[in-house]
Amino acid sequence: MTGPDYHRPALVSGVLGYLVGDPDGLYLDGTVGGGGHAAAILTRCPQCRLLGLDRDSEALAAARTRLARFGDRVRLAQLSFREVADDAEVRLERLAGALLDLGASSHQLDLDRRGFSIRRGVRLDMRMDQEGGRDAAALLASVPRRDLLSALRAGDAPRAGALAARIVRVRATRALRTSDDLVAALESVLRRPASHSEKARLFQAVRIEVNGEIDALRRGLPAIRDVLRPGAVLAVISYHSIEDRIVKRAFREWSDPSRGLPPRLPLRDLPGALGSVLTAKPVRPGAEEVAENPRARPARLRAWRRAA
Ligand SMILES: C[S@@+](CC[C@H](N)C(=O)[O-])C[C@H]1O[C@@H](n2cnc3c(N)ncnc32)[C@H](O)[C@@H]1O
Repeated sequence: MTGPDYHRPALVSGVLGYLVGDPDGLYLDGTVGGGGHAAAILTRCPQCRLLGLDRDSEALAAARTRLARFGDRVRLAQLSFREVADDAEVRLERLAGALLDLGASSHQLDLDRRGFSIRRGVRLDMRMDQEGGRDAAALLASVPRRDLLSALRAGDAPRAGALAARIVRVRATRALRTSDDLVAALESVLRRPASHSEKARLFQAVRIEVNGEIDALRRGLPAIRDVLRPGAVLAVISYHSIEDRIVKRAFREWSDPSRGLPPRLPLRDLPGALGSVLTAKPVRPGAEEVAENPRARPARLRAWRRAA
């Protein structure tokens, strides 16, 4: 599966408008997925190059096919964006701009064998990087109750406290292996059939924990900021209020480093701003985009420019 069948990118014109300034620099797509945003960036600036990262080898295979026409202007690597500074070319050249399009791709969400889906009978997996780490079934079997509770709360799962207790009780007698097991735990807490959105919030909370998505974002944002060239832009699309809050706070702090410092610090001791926020409010998809691509509905784009 490649192209829009793999994943239909959201907010493409907003991304291009903020991100692409330098006509021939090195751009980062830190979540290249099926390569939709990457293709748009490479088309917008015919001299620039792009490094595309993803944790998922199937994403990189799809992106490789989709981006083949751009030849050696593209390089792909299986790496988390939080490790971007491990890339020698990035360290040497620095980035002309960087994009993160967070969350899971349609490919990951739609294929039962990837184990993200709330459809019936799906074996729970949810790993973006299939070559390593604990899958969702293993996580639910072993995660301490306190960590499970904070993951469910952080991911906005319904009735997080009761649900964490229920999962711990169920797993004492039998493993939660499939989507049905997880939905059954939720419904026994709700005492009624769960709505689609309740199931989706629960599965999203588990997915975020399986992939350490919050930690990757918290560490990845400053890692990318530090390898931007002066004047370069970091654009981030998030689909979840927790992610969006992390991005918003980071961008604000970097733009006003006196935030959170003691109020009477002498002026000379205040650190200077590292850059400025370009989006006072996040950019959201219009009705037309949502009608064409309903998964774009929760997308929020924020952009920040490193000081020149
Ligand atoms: C919403 S999709 C991106 C779609 C892409 N913009 C496109 O146009 O096809 C998110 C992608 O980010 C990847 N991903 C999530 N967290 C990551 C991380 N920390 N580092 C690298 N890739 C990550 C996922 O595997 C998934 O393929």
